Parts: sequence; structure tokens; C-alpha cells
Amino acid sequence: MIAAASTTDNFALTLEREGLIVLPGQPFVLTTDETDLVSPRFSDGQAKNISLAPSGVVRGAARDPTAQIRLAALMARYRAWAESLIKAEAPRYAPWLETGRTSLRTREVAEGSKSPRGDDRRLHIDAFASQPTGGRRILRVFTNINPAGEPRIWRMGEPFETHAHRWATRLRAPLPGEAWLLSRLGVTRATRTPYDTLMLGLHDASKLDVRYQREAPRREVAFPAGTSWIVYTDSTVHAAIRGQFCLEQTFYLPLEAMADPQAAPAWILERMVGRRLC
Ligand code: SIN
Ligand code: FE
Repeated sequence: MIAAASTTDNFALTLEREGLIVLPGQPFVLTTDETDLVSPRFSDGQAKNISLAPSGVVRGAARDPTAQIRLAALMARYRAWAESLIKAEAPRYAPWLETGRTSLRTREVAEGSKSPRGDDRRLHIDAFASQPTGGRRILRVFTNINPAGEPRIWRMGEPFETHAHRWATRLRAPLPGEAWLLSRLGVTRATRTPYDTLMLGLHDASKLDVRYQREAPRREVAFPAGTSWIVYTDSTVHAAIRGQFCLEQTFYLPLEAMADPQAAPAWILERMVGRRLC
């Protein structure tokens, strides 16, 4: 059963319905011995980000054991801060909060990506081919740690429901046996549900449509250096346009945790197609 929303749920409700909350002030500040880590020189030059898995494994970092330990410590400190933030602001999430990867993003966003699907400068909702969520929400906490005081610039697009309806006729249902096959082949880390296939369809359809990218409604949002913001990136149409140096923590939340389950992409898509998707 889903607990009824109460006043302690205001933060969760705003987040679920509006998709974005910008925190006041500069709630996460680097210590003086962390500041030198904010540099592209610790990257392995291949990966998009340096990341810390919940298991403790660091990926994307240069082969420098001392730097890797310090990077892991910075990301672990960020993760702990983000966890306590969410638990304090949205207490109903606390028992459900599943901690995903932490990332340190040292690339200039404006440089983009070689592949259109990987290009986060294009408006999209988050859905990842290798990481099906099975209907769980993707909640991310970002902090702009740009040392030169440069903002991180995003675009925010139309509401999820409008977005889903726009692409409805183009989305395909998974083929029989497809989810099983992808999981056997190791393409997916968990079995892809029809929900994941639809979400991936939305992600790809919007990113690959040149006209949509040119004409779709959007507003620009600047996150000043030092600012932290929290986003449901699975339901919020977004694009990162410009900016460098950012910390990010990913969380997953089941639908049971939602203050307003009807604002969740799974609920909206299920109503749209008229059947269970996950
Ligand atoms: C994204 O999720 O599309 C990228 C966000 C960012 O790095 O600012
Ligand atoms: Fe994204």
C-alpha cells in the first residue's frame, strides 16, 4: 500500500511534480585539499566521467593510485552528503533509497559527444541501454564545482506527459524474447522490461530528431558555481549545454516510495498504452 502524502512530503511532491529543485546557497563545499582534484588531468582520457560505484570501484580515472584513492574519497564524501540530504528533505524516501553511482564530470559539456545518442546537449529524458530500471525512478543530485566561477547551463523541456504523447506513435513494443536475449548477451545488467524499452525509445527518438531538437519548447537554466540541484532525470526533459566540473550522485527509487505515483513515468506510460509495463 502507498502511504498518503503528508506535509513532510512537500519536498518529495515538488520534486516529483516539477522534476527540479535548486537548493539555496552553496550546500556542498570542497575542502582545500580536494580542490586540485577538480581537473581533467585525473581522467583516463576515454571515459565521459570519473565514477565511483557503490561497490567502491573507481572507473574512468588515470592510473595514479594515490589520485584514485583521493578521487574515491571525494566522491564518497559527496555520496554521503547527497544521501543525508535526500533522507532529511524527503523522509518518506529514506527506507527505499537505493544508491547508484557517483560521478565527477571534468569535461566541458559544450564539446559534446561523438555519438548523437550519447550527446547530452540534446534534449532528452534519461534512459540507459545497459541499465534498465524496471520502472524505478532515477533521481540525481548535481553540484557545480567549477573553480573559475562558470555556471553550468541546462535546457529544460516540455512536461513528461506531453513528451511521451509526442512520440507515442513511433515507439515500438519489445520483440518476443528480446529482453531475455539482451540479458543473456550481457547487453543489459538486469532484464529489460517493456517500460525500459519505451523509455529508451523516448530517449533515442528525441535525441535523434533534428527538428525536435531545433524547435521543441525549452527554457534555459543557469546553475551558478557552487549551486546544487536535484532532478528526476527520467521524467524531466533536459539537456546540458555548457559548463565544466560537476559532481553528481544517482539514486534509484521504487514507485512505492513516491508521494505522487501518478507523476511517475511508469504510471503515465501505463495509462497511455493501457497495460502494465513493469
Ligand atoms: C545529463 O544528464 O544529460 C547531463 C547532465 C550534466 O552533466 O550536467
Ligand atoms: Fe541526461
